[in-house]
Amino acid sequence: MSDKITTAVIREKKGRERITALTAYDTPMAALLDEADIDILLVGDSVGNVVLGYEDTLPVTMEEMLHHVKAVRRGSGRSLVVADMPFLSYGAGADKATSIMNAGRFLKEGGANAVKLEGGTGIAPLVAQMVEIGIPVMGHIGLQPQSINQLGSYKARGRKRGEAEALLESARALDEAGVFALVLECIPRQLAARITAAIRVPTIGIGSGEFCDGQILVTHDILGLGKNGVPRFVRRYLDINSLMAAAVREYASDVRRGGYPSPQEGYDMPESELEGLR
Ligand code: KIV
Repeated sequence: MSDKITTAVIREKKGRERITALTAYDTPMAALLDEADIDILLVGDSVGNVVLGYEDTLPVTMEEMLHHVKAVRRGSGRSLVVADMPFLSYGAGADKATSIMNAGRFLKEGGANAVKLEGGTGIAPLVAQMVEIGIPVMGHIGLQPQSINQLGSYKARGRKRGEAEALLESARALDEAGVFALVLECIPRQLAARITAAIRVPTIGIGSGEFCDGQILVTHDILGLGKNGVPRFVRRYLDINSLMAAAVREYASDVRRGGYPSPQEGYDMPESELEGLR
């Protein structure tokens, strides 16, 4: 197995080797992705809508995120574990000291290697402070799901020149602030190419085309796990839902008809012990 992936390794991959990233929320999935040589395991706040049954990512709390980050840490070895900072745990939602403390908790208590923050130029000074004290930060611009109430939809961002320019400016500010990588969510391919060329650190695209330095998707989406609909940029590699549903139906039918368990799937008591048992 190759060496532990660090934030420095991720930076060095820019222009040399494409970076692979997927979401992970629990120990077995983290172990599977780690063994499959995925570079970055993001414990996304998408845990809210993907596994916790929330409508969006906004209700997710620090404690819920920490719980999942710890589980992912226990399952991973080589991959870089990045913890997503939930809505209101940083930036405008918390004062500077609290924001930094919250970020630090993911490293200190959760065992994460880095944190991810949604936001552009406005959060660049906070990012610089986190980086300064040793908390590696991954940026996230474009479609920012935590701003869904402001955006009104999960549509692509940056299709108009003004918005595209603002995104380029944000990317440069975050690069300057010291992020080690930048997630570009749902922006046009051509704009992603411009940003990728304009900054020193790798861009990790989600629905942002082929010119990014790496790609990230929600693992449940590529495996077809769960009932959530998927955006058009997702490629489905498996329909695990159908496989699981068929297996569960077969189990239920075996139990109902008395086909499970068989004598071999139980424990026997020695005859000598049975004798005299009242
Ligand atoms: O929470 C999440 O899953 C994300 C994406 C970038 C995949 O932020």
